[in-house]
Amino acid sequence: MMEAAAGRGRGAIVILISGRGSNMLALLDARPALDVAAVISNEPQAAGLGAARERGVPTRIVDHRAHADRPRFDAALAREIDGFGPGLIVLAGFMRILTDEFVARYGGRLVNIHPSLLPAFPGLHTHRRALLAGVRIHGCTVHFVTPELDRGPIIAQAAVAVAPDDTEETLAARVLAQEHKLYPQVVRWVAEGRVTLAPDGSVTVRRKAAATGSLASPPLDEV
Ligand code: GRF
Repeated sequence: MMEAAAGRGRGAIVILISGRGSNMLALLDARPALDVAAVISNEPQAAGLGAARERGVPTRIVDHRAHADRPRFDAALAREIDGFGPGLIVLAGFMRILTDEFVARYGGRLVNIHPSLLPAFPGLHTHRRALLAGVRIHGCTVHFVTPELDRGPIIAQAAVAVAPDDTEETLAARVLAQEHKLYPQVVRWVAEGRVTLAPDGSVTVRRKAAATGSLASPPLDEV
């Protein structure tokens, strides 16, 4: 079994962003505080960078446009990450596809949040696609990153009911509110070494309460 997030400073975290950074903010504002060493963006204009700086968190920019190809960008990104010696790398709205080499380098120490209940709706425009598909339950997933996009081992999910009058925007907002609760909790579990990724890709989360309960949408009649 591979202990997730093992390495120098197991709890130290580097967050990668590309834009708004609301999940990053949820991580920076989590209490008790998570040990966030730095925030790195591939987009110089990412709004999240300012918010991180305001909180005194070191920031770096690795602009993908300044690199000739994906391997060179990933190598530059890895150099910046490794400068902080993190145990865990957290993708929070990071919109670049990573090379297999990059993913392998951080195997078991690289997590992502995706705005759907994977394996449903990998890729982009998840809320629009969920509405078109007519699903009654939608949500978000935190998973280990593997080379295949949005297909890595699932650590945790949070679900929301889809309302009959939902638009892409209202559904996105309801899912995002769940993301902001789910991601800090899961990152804490991983940073504390409570998440184990087995070689067969199965994930174990050591926590006190057993998984119980169910969610039905529309709600079932009381009997
Ligand atoms: C979130 O919906 C996240 O699930 C997805 O990209 C979005 C990023 O939003 N990977 P933000 O930058 O965290 O506000």
